[in-house]
Amino acid sequence: SPEELDRRIRAAKATLGNRALILGHFYQRDEVIRYADVVGDSFQLARAAATRPAAEAIIFCGVHFMAETADILSGTDQAVILPNLAAGCSMADMASIAEVEDCWAELEALYGTAADAAGRVPVIPVTYMNSSAAIKDFCGRRGGIVCTSSNARAVLTWAFERGQRVVFFPDQHLGRNTAKAMGVPLDSMSMWNPRLPLGGNSETALIQARVILWNGFCSVHRRFTVEQIAAARAEHPGVRVIVHPECPVEVVDAADENGSTDYITRAIVAAPDGGIFAVGTEINLVQRLATRYPQHTIFCLDPVVCPCSTMYRIHPGYLAWVLEQLVEGETVNRIRVADEVSSGALLALRRMLAVQP
Ligand code: 13P
Ligand code: SF4
Repeated sequence: SPEELDRRIRAAKATLGNRALILGHFYQRDEVIRYADVVGDSFQLARAAATRPAAEAIIFCGVHFMAETADILSGTDQAVILPNLAAGCSMADMASIAEVEDCWAELEALYGTAADAAGRVPVIPVTYMNSSAAIKDFCGRRGGIVCTSSNARAVLTWAFERGQRVVFFPDQHLGRNTAKAMGVPLDSMSMWNPRLPLGGNSETALIQARVILWNGFCSVHRRFTVEQIAAARAEHPGVRVIVHPECPVEVVDAADENGSTDYITRAIVAAPDGGIFAVGTEINLVQRLATRYPQHTIFCLDPVVCPCSTMYRIHPGYLAWVLEQLVEGETVNRIRVADEVSSGALLALRRMLAVQP
């Protein structure tokens, strides 16, 4: 029962004390998030791991790529545990390292490797945090970098200082929305479909492109539509529409603001009482904000509840199990990134952490 699980988790946590640190992403359900020592967006949680907390284990209540990142950034003697190994991310799975390598080989064959007069190489690889450690490693080894939704603009600025173009993995929407906000015209962006030669582009289109977007997407965020925004505005005059930048470009354009899960939270916290917010992101975060800030009217843009099904796989039962195993001296569900990929990935992550948003 929930009460029994609550008792077991609290008891294990009390026994472990600061030997275990629980990190929780904003999209986790309340029945999990209530036990987290640090709650945040993917950038904040990566930073929390990078501070190398004294704990012997980090229990990551989030998805697989986040736990991998924590393993790369935390000390090697520190175990990172993902309570349910089936908690992946469908977007991250849309780019495999083999496909990324093939894409890169085609781009290199087309662009060559010579820098321009300003010293900028033909193309810089940028990967969204929502990608495998192998892709982060690939980017790190080729002068590239990682970004999250909270620093994508600063990271793309960094990349354009070093490269004539950027290839962006795997979320087309974050890449497109960020580049557009920086003034890159949509017709200077090419989509890359890994199943087609040259990604489905003509050589001319790729030569002219400033941004090449992998054709990945988030199945939660692509559900939001311009029609939902129009309906929210019609029903709630004065509504503030805030969406995550993983939403399609027309949705971001129709919204009042867009930003990471932390941005959305801060915007609501800072608003004067009586605000009306239509939020385009995962439902667990939206419902938590609605409960915590009853002085506002807060609702999800999508009337059909849209949880992230993989985030939801972290059930309190798994959390109780991994904590109790730690109490017994057993480390289960450890995420270990192989040495061959962790050094390049660390380089790409450190470049990101050094960029000032
Ligand atoms: P944030 O970086 O905003 O936390 O987003 C992570 C994520 O997976 C959104 O779908
Ligand atoms: Fe991946 Fe989308 Fe879930 Fe975020 S919300 S973890 S991008 S599937």
